Amino acid sequence: MYKQIIRPLLFLLDPEKVHNLLAAGLKTYKHFPWLRKLIRAKYQQTNTSFRWGDKNITCKIGLSAGFDKTGEIFDELSDFGFGFIEIGTITPAPQQGNPAPRIFRLPKYDSLISRTGFNNPGMEKLNGYLQRTSRNYLLGININKNPESTGDAAVNDILSLYKTLSPKANYFTINLPAPDDETFIRILREMDIYRSTLVESCPVLLKLPADLPEDSIHKVAGLIREFHINGAIATGPTTDRSHIQNYTAAELAAYGAGGISGKGIGDKSRRIVKQLRTSLGKDFLIIGAGGVMTPDDALDMQAAGANLIQIYSAFIFSGPSVVKQMSQVL
Ligand SMILES: Cc1cc2nc3c(=O)[nH]c(=O)nc-3n(C[C@H](O)[C@H](O)[C@H](O)COP(=O)(O)O)c2cc1C
Repeated sequence: MYKQIIRPLLFLLDPEKVHNLLAAGLKTYKHFPWLRKLIRAKYQQTNTSFRWGDKNITCKIGLSAGFDKTGEIFDELSDFGFGFIEIGTITPAPQQGNPAPRIFRLPKYDSLISRTGFNNPGMEKLNGYLQRTSRNYLLGININKNPESTGDAAVNDILSLYKTLSPKANYFTINLPAPDDETFIRILREMDIYRSTLVESCPVLLKLPADLPEDSIHKVAGLIREFHINGAIATGPTTDRSHIQNYTAAELAAYGAGGISGKGIGDKSRRIVKQLRTSLGKDFLIIGAGGVMTPDDALDMQAAGANLIQIYSAFIFSGPSVVKQMSQVL
């Protein structure tokens, strides 16, 4: 039904317009408890639960950052069966992001090109949206500094996000820019010092770029250990378009700059997960992300060493039932 009827209609419209329509629809949907009950009964299932420290994750499939950038629809999205949802990326001050259009579909190879530029409503607004209610899924918050913040200001950005939003998050994610970025290493150090003063600190994950050179993975594993990071998400989008089939180089170039998500990134992400698992050993959480489009992809990612899986593009190309289909095979 999704692929035959709903998707062809949605794909007639600009991707960001569809996204905004979906968000508006979900905000209305939340006022119909009977409908939510029906949707939950159809999509939710709990046969792949996973224990992460003191947390129980009811489904090994989660929703990646960037789908709910504003933190307004994650609870409704959880009705589709996700065991964890990552909102953001959130910065302290609001960000407009890049001019639209900034998201493009590549339907002949189930991939996306995006250059959203971290558009988000900022920390204070997000804080207002979040409630301290009990949930049957984990809420992750992907945080970043504002682009103009450097040095001390960059450290303060991340620390203030961490301190302000900790009571409402189950984990935080920080995107690794590059393994030898000095400001970033300072951020990790200062955050570690701050977290060591707490009786109980909210876990932090490092999200790796898909273009991380293979010889840097060991170094990243070292950073994770040294700064008591609780695990990694591998990976975010790639700038490498060479794996995209059914499109000419000229067609791809016409979209302009942007990272590739979806099928065109899967091999890369899986390889990084495998190397990271070898470097980190079994005691750290690894969330496999990037190009997990089918239940078989989810199984492969698990075999590469991922404990949990995050998806974004698969939700767009295959619809909500893919969450249950994937979790049933893990
Ligand atoms: C339109 C779009 C927006 C995104 N926004 C963010 C973001 O704000 N922060 C982030 O860490 N990742 C963002 N991502 C990357 C996704 O979280 C994910 O890592 C990536 O799409 C790879 O997963 P996939 O192949 O399942 O789509 C975005 C991806 C897309 C397609």
